[in-house]
Parts: sequence; C-alpha cells; structure tokens
Amino acid sequence: MERGRVLLSPSILSADFGRLLAQVQEAEEAGADWLHVDVMDGHFVPNLTIGPPVLESLKGKVGLPLDVHLMIERPADYIKAFAAAGAAYLTVHPEADAHLHRTVQAIREAGIRPGVALNPSTPLSALECVLDDISLVLIMTVNPGFGGQKFIRSMVPKIRQAAALIGDRDIILEVDGGIGPETAPLVVGAGARALVAGNSVFRGKGTVAQNIKAIRDSLPG
Ligand code: DX5
Ligand code: ZN
Repeated sequence: MERGRVLLSPSILSADFGRLLAQVQEAEEAGADWLHVDVMDGHFVPNLTIGPPVLESLKGKVGLPLDVHLMIERPADYIKAFAAAGAAYLTVHPEADAHLHRTVQAIREAGIRPGVALNPSTPLSALECVLDDISLVLIMTVNPGFGGQKFIRSMVPKIRQAAALIGDRDIILEVDGGIGPETAPLVVGAGARALVAGNSVFRGKGTVAQNIKAIRDSLPG
C-alpha cells in the first residue's frame, strides 16, 4: 500500500481542559491531522474521562476528524451517541466486547469508520475475524488508562507484524502510547501510519506547535 504522509492525532487527554478549544485549535493550526479522544469508563480501564457531550461542544469549531478510542465495557451501547457527536473513527477493544464482529458492523452502519485496538498483551489474532471489515488498527504501546506512560519497546515487532497482517488492505495502522520524537521514528519504521501523541504534544517542552513540529521532524523523509 502507498505509505503517504504519517498522520498525527494529538490526544486531548493530556490537554488543559480549562482551555480545551484553544488547545485543540492550536493543534489544528500546527498541522495535526486528527484529534484523538480517549473515552474511559472506570471499568475497562482504571480511569474516567470524557464522553459525547465534550465532543458535541467541539462540533462546528474544529475541522479535524475525531479519532475516538473507546476504553469502555459494552461499547456497542454507545455507538449512536458517538455517531451523533461527530466521531469519524470509532475504535473498540476486543477484550471489552464479546461480539466484536457485530459491533464493528454496527459502527459502519452508523456511518463511522470502525477501528480495533489491541492492548499490549492481546495477540494480533484477535483481529483476524474482522480484518476485512475495519478501517483502523490501533496498537497500544502502553497499557491503556493514562497519558504520559512509558513506551513499551517490545511492541515494535508487533507493529511490524500488524503491518504485514494488514497487507494491501485499506486499513490505517495507528500506534498509541508514549509517542514523541524519540519513539515516533521507531514505530513509523515498523509500519505505523498514524501516531497518537498526548503528553508530547500538550505537555511537551515547547508550544503545541513546536511540539508537533518536533515529532514531524523526527520522522524519516
Ligand atoms: C492511553 C490513551 C492514550 C493516551 C496517550 O490509555 O489511550 O491515547 O492519551 O498519551 P501519551 O501520548 O501521553 O502516552
Ligand atoms: Zn488512546
């Protein structure tokens, strides 16, 4: 498949929620491609974050496609709410859903592109039965639940294997967790085409624009 430009998806989990719109607009102006939205329920992961009302509040003010990552149990119950709130991609964890295939179909029927995310301990084989039905594969390079965690280096071969499994299919391979200028080249070298970045964008050394540029500058080509 044609590799093209690597997509950058800043994660608002690390943003200052008191200035969310300003931070998101800064990311958009700095050339972010998507906006990553981490939804956590305190059950599937040990943290609580945001839901559809926050997406609704950004509607019409942000041009970036919303890349919504559901770390919740019973994700199928919330598809309609996220469709109405403007999600472009809706990614679910097979570990959280006994009927992944049905959920993926329902996401597509709701007019959203379905994605599947794999925890570090979840094998790639969890994808095989839905590979022809999804638009995105998200490889977790931290255990989900929090921003600012350390990148798990042993996931690099898994990214390479995911790229091989995807082959020519029109599926975006995205990586999430601990991505910054030091780790971005590693995962892109292994085949990642989209990068989630929370702390390195919103809590990095420079401005949001400088932090985004530092990630882009770290990439080959
Ligand atoms: C972790 C979330 C990530 C997180 C990434 O559970 O899925 O999207 O926001 O944050 P960083 O880039 O700081 O590791
Ligand atoms: Zn995420």
